[in-house]
Amino acid sequence: MNEHTLSKLAVEYSNFSIYQSFVTDAKRAERFSVAAAGLFLDYSKQKVTCEIMDQLEQWAQRLGLSAKISAMFNGDKINFTEERAVLHTVLRAPYERQEAILGEALANEVANTELKMETLIQAINDKSMTGYSGLAFTDIVAVGIGGSYYGPKICDKALTPYQSKGLSVHYVANVDGNALESKLQLLNPQTTLVVVISKTFTTQETLLNANALKSWLVESGCGEYLIHKHFVAVTTNLELAVRFGVDPDNILPMWDWVGGRFSLWSAVGFPLACAIGVENFKRLKAGAYEMDKHLLEAPLSSNMPVILALLGVWNRSFLNYPSLAVLPYDHLLGDFPGYLQQLDMESNGKQVTVDGDEAPLATAPIVFGQEGTNGQHAFMQLMHQSDEVVPTEFIVALRGHSRFPEHHQTLVANCFAQSETLMQGKSLVQVQEELAKQGMSSADIAQLAPHKVMKGNVPSVTLTMEQLTPETMGSLMALYEHKIFVQGVMWQLNSFDQWGVELGKVLGQRVMAAMSGNPDAGLSASSQQLINRFNQVNKNDVKKQ
Ligand code: F6P
Repeated sequence: MNEHTLSKLAVEYSNFSIYQSFVTDAKRAERFSVAAAGLFLDYSKQKVTCEIMDQLEQWAQRLGLSAKISAMFNGDKINFTEERAVLHTVLRAPYERQEAILGEALANEVANTELKMETLIQAINDKSMTGYSGLAFTDIVAVGIGGSYYGPKICDKALTPYQSKGLSVHYVANVDGNALESKLQLLNPQTTLVVVISKTFTTQETLLNANALKSWLVESGCGEYLIHKHFVAVTTNLELAVRFGVDPDNILPMWDWVGGRFSLWSAVGFPLACAIGVENFKRLKAGAYEMDKHLLEAPLSSNMPVILALLGVWNRSFLNYPSLAVLPYDHLLGDFPGYLQQLDMESNGKQVTVDGDEAPLATAPIVFGQEGTNGQHAFMQLMHQSDEVVPTEFIVALRGHSRFPEHHQTLVANCFAQSETLMQGKSLVQVQEELAKQGMSSADIAQLAPHKVMKGNVPSVTLTMEQLTPETMGSLMALYEHKIFVQGVMWQLNSFDQWGVELGKVLGQRVMAAMSGNPDAGLSASSQQLINRFNQVNKNDVKKQ
C-alpha cells in the first residue's frame, strides 16, 4: 500500500535537508518545476525526492484519480450527499463541450444567461437602465456571502488595472451594520443598483442586508412600485427572488450543479463583469479553461494541480504539518488567502470518507496568510523561529502593474528571499561565527546566539506568472479549485458539501429567538448569561418576536 510506504518514507527522510538536496542534485530546481496555463510552479524547496513523488503519484493512480477527474468534468453526481453534479468547469468551456455535457436545452440556458448578463451590463452602461428617478447608475452594490462573495470580490481587486471606468462596484457580505453603513455613506440611492447574490436566497446575512438596502431606497423617496428598478438577483431560487421584489427579467439563474465556492464562473461573476467588462470576464474564464485542459490532459507527473495537491497531502498527512501559509506578494492578491480559506477548509475540513468511515489520515490544513511583505512584519517571526513548521505557498507576478518598478523589484526580491530564508535558516554555529566576527565576547555570544538561531528547512513552493492578467488570474483560481478537488480525492472526502456550517445557522436562529424573549432551555447557562447581558445593554432596541 502506498500510504504505508509513504509513512515509512516520512520517517526515513525525517532529517532530509532541503538545502543539502540542492548541493547533491544540480538539476533539482529544474526537476521539481512545472509550467502550465501561464503559471510556473517551483516546488524544489519541498521535502520530497523522486521516490516520494513517484509513490504519491502511484497512490493517486491507485485511488483512480484520473477517472475521478473525468467523472467531475463529465457531470457525474460526485457530490453524493446532495445528489449533485459538480460542473463549474463546464461554465468556462466552449459551447460544443457544454452541449455535450449538459444537453442542448441546458447549454442554451447557460448561453442565454451569459447573454442576459451582457445585455444588462450594456443597458447599465448605455444608461437605458436607470434608477427610480431616471438617473443612470454609477454604483453597484453586490450583496452576498461565502461563495456568493469571495470569487467576484477577490478577482475585482486582483484585476483593478483592468477595471472599466464609469461604474464603481462595492461588496457587502457581513451582517454587521458597520459594514453596510460604510458603503451607504459612499452611495447615492438614486444611482445605486443592488445585485443580490444568493444561490439559495435564504441566507440570513444576505437577506438582512438586501432588505436594509430596500428600506434605504424607500426612505430616499423611491416608491415601492419602482423598487424593482434597483435590483438584480443571481440565484437558483427564482420564486423567493420574485417574492423579494426582483423583476423576473432581472434575475440571472444559477444551477444546483455549481457549488457556491466554485460559482464565480456563473452569473455570480456579474458584479465582476460590471467592474472589468464582459471581454475581460471572458478572458478570465479562458484562463481557467486552459488550466482545466491541463488538468485533463497532462500526465500526473507533470500536472500542476495534481503536484500541488500531492505536496499538500504529503505535508499534512505524512509530515504532520497542521497549517498552510499562502502568501501572495502582490497587493492586488491581498484577499486571495481569505478566498482560499473557504475553498480549502469548507471543501476538505472533514473527517468522514465517502464510505462513511473515519478518515485514516489528517485532512485539510488550517490556511492563513496575507499579502507580502506585510506578513514578514507580523506572523513570519513564528514561521522562522517557533518549532511549528508551516509549509508555505508564495505567489508572485514577475512584472508589476504599478508605475513604481523599484517597488516591484523589491517586492519580488523579498518573496524570493523569504523562501530561501525559510529553507536555509541559520544554525547556532553560523550565528556564533557571525557574532565572533563582529568582535563580541564569548560570554555575550553564549547569551545572545541561541536567540538568533533560525530553524530553516521549512518547505515552500513559489508560484509565478509573467503578470497578473485576466487569463493568469483565471488559471490561478482554477489551479486552486483543482488542487482542493484532488486533495479531496486523496483523502477520500466529498469536497463539495458543507454540512458543518448548518448547525451554527440553526443555533443562530434559536439565540435570536431567546434574545427576543423566547427562553430556550437547550442553550447553556453561559450563552443564556451572554444573551441576558446583551438584552440589558440593548433594552430598548431588542426586537420582540
Ligand atoms: O457558508 C455556507 C454557505 O452555504 C456557502 O457554501 C455559500 O457559499 C454561502 O453559505 C452562501 O450561500 P448562498 O449563496 O445560498 O447565499
